[in-house]
Amino acid sequence: MSRVFNFSAGPATVPLPVLEKAQREMLDWQGSGMSVMEMSHRGKDFISIAEKAESDVRELMNVPANYKVLFLQGGATTQFSMVPMNLLNGNNKACYVNTGAWSKKAIKEAKIHCDVTLSASSEDDNFMSIPALDSWNIDQDAAYLHYTSNETIGGVEFQDAPDVGGLDLVVDMSSNILSREIDVSKFAVIYAGGQKNMGPSGIALTIVREDLIGNVQAGSPSMMDYKNHADAGSMFNTPATYSWYLMGLVFEWLKEQGGVAAIEARNIRKAEKLYAAIDSSSFYANPVEVASRSRMNVTFTLANADLDSLFLSEAKAAGLETLKGHRSVGGMRASIYNAMSEEGVDALISMMAEFERTKA
Ligand SMILES: Cc1ncc(COP(=O)(O)O)c(C=O)c1O
Repeated sequence: MSRVFNFSAGPATVPLPVLEKAQREMLDWQGSGMSVMEMSHRGKDFISIAEKAESDVRELMNVPANYKVLFLQGGATTQFSMVPMNLLNGNNKACYVNTGAWSKKAIKEAKIHCDVTLSASSEDDNFMSIPALDSWNIDQDAAYLHYTSNETIGGVEFQDAPDVGGLDLVVDMSSNILSREIDVSKFAVIYAGGQKNMGPSGIALTIVREDLIGNVQAGSPSMMDYKNHADAGSMFNTPATYSWYLMGLVFEWLKEQGGVAAIEARNIRKAEKLYAAIDSSSFYANPVEVASRSRMNVTFTLANADLDSLFLSEAKAAGLETLKGHRSVGGMRASIYNAMSEEGVDALISMMAEFERTKA
């Protein structure tokens, strides 16, 4: 078996011990004589898997008791709709911050349901920075303020949750959830697709403050109502059982690593050394304002874009996969989520140095 270092933005690399455990348990989960995929979601075995995943993520993120943790389907994109449908509660206004491609998609979806106040945007800066908080236009009469804590494509990241006064704060944490310590009580809703820091795609983890549940817009489909999912323990319909199980294995792995604080320390080391390698070179460059750089998605360009495809083929030959930047921005992007080892980042830095030495 030879596994590559996979720098994909999502679906992304999964910790090897998680895959190995899933492999060991594939045919016979803990003496049940069946795969988790084959189990009834109502049976005691799956219920124990589901409950363990929830209690582990509550422990990892220190989720207060007055928040529901939901395992939903339709990825983060479905949350772009569920957030306005559930949180507007008769209000017709919501604030959004636009820091890049994913914010834009959330805004586009919100506009179907309400008037959007653009509280801040870094579009004029080509999305290369997080707008300074003192410049934000925050309408305290809006239902909530939404932002994207890490822009997966542009590689910009909030270093802290913005202080928006008494307004309910909603965050798309798809590409940096569980990568750094956060205070859940600052948020009304936190949501994230699974495929970056939690394993499989198609599933979303949504953490909602309880008092916000039960106000879905009249006429909404039942599947869009947080209350139906909360009341049914995320089993309003047949849940994505196998994905839920895999997420649970990732949470177990994270606890074994020492939890979020320990993985954050490792993430800081990984990002710092990769940015240092880029900054100390005259061949590679990262265009993002230093204070807004993402620890998860490190973008970089080569001084000579004609060498891009050669760079990618040499990287591939060295076992470093999926480094091509998103088609909308070009260049390279190394996604170095929780599951990317320091060894993987070191291998990338060595390959980059060797490429510069021989090809620049
Ligand atoms: C920040 C962010 N938000 C939302 C999404 C959409 O997630 P999904 O494809 O799970 O709907 C992504 C996907 O890459 C993302 O990176």
